[in-house]
Amino acid sequence: MMIDKTAIIHIELDQLIPLKTDELSLGTAKDLNIYLVLEGKPVLYKRAGIPITEEHIKDLKDNEIDTIYIKKTECKLFIQEIEREIATLLDNKPICLETVKRWIDKIFSLSEAILSVPTKENLKAAQRITKDISEAIENNPEIAYLTAFALKKDIATSIHIANVHALSSGFAYHLGLRKEKLETIVTGSFFHDIGKIKVPDHILKKPGKLTDTEYEMIKKHTTWGYYLLNKMSFRKYAPIALYHHEFLDGTGYPEGLKNGEIPEEAKIVQICDIYEAITGIRPYRDSEPPFSALTTIKENFVIKGKIDKNLYKEFVIYLYKNKT
Ligand SMILES: [Fe+2]
Ligand SMILES: [Fe+2]
Repeated sequence: MMIDKTAIIHIELDQLIPLKTDELSLGTAKDLNIYLVLEGKPVLYKRAGIPITEEHIKDLKDNEIDTIYIKKTECKLFIQEIEREIATLLDNKPICLETVKRWIDKIFSLSEAILSVPTKENLKAAQRITKDISEAIENNPEIAYLTAFALKKDIATSIHIANVHALSSGFAYHLGLRKEKLETIVTGSFFHDIGKIKVPDHILKKPGKLTDTEYEMIKKHTTWGYYLLNKMSFRKYAPIALYHHEFLDGTGYPEGLKNGEIPEEAKIVQICDIYEAITGIRPYRDSEPPFSALTTIKENFVIKGKIDKNLYKEFVIYLYKNKT
């Protein structure tokens, strides 16, 4: 392997953020030190100053390394790189499915970084990036309708966040939201599950059924997200984090609000959240294809009066509008 053996490493595992190897693309990560963990110990793989080369990519693939690490203290640089890449991506015309897939990939990386190092500065950067996306959607509406086809399939929380962000952004545009309101959804959906950073990993990633206590802990991600966003002055996105698990019939959490009390933006993110949870891959059950997921939502939520019937109808139209 191409390990930098000349480096003396004084770094502990908890100072590193794990990332998927396929997040590294050719020519990127120039300013970053890249680490691997071999036999439980961090080793320097690539020094800052050189970008990722074809040799690196081949070497990691040949050695079946699927996780690389960066320093938490260098997370800011990683986010800056994502910001540059998304800006270039959205400048490329014409916008095609491949562009939207790459955008969701980048949002996935951003989410991994934010969940690992949720500082105000990093959240600000995420807000800047997602604001640019809402502008890009207004200038290129085709982006909105490609999101439903571009979702990533995996089990990580970050992928769920990236997918819900992309779906909600497209759906909000479809519903006619523009400018400030559109931006609230585009950015707010990215932050909707931010409170999960306080849920212990063994609960968040537990395959199978949760105990009542564990479920109560998961439910707290709504209030935790709300407090975190408020504390960091991201007030306008906080209601989405707080209310995206409320239902029209008052059976949701955390407050058991009813129809008129639930903010519109939380309802919009919620339907995308549920759709993603049903279609996304989970270790303990099969994922459902889109059409079957819509039937499940209808039977379990719409008919039971938990989700607005008209919002559901629009969601179906949105998903199938560009289906060729
Ligand atoms: Fe949630
Ligand atoms: Fe969610």
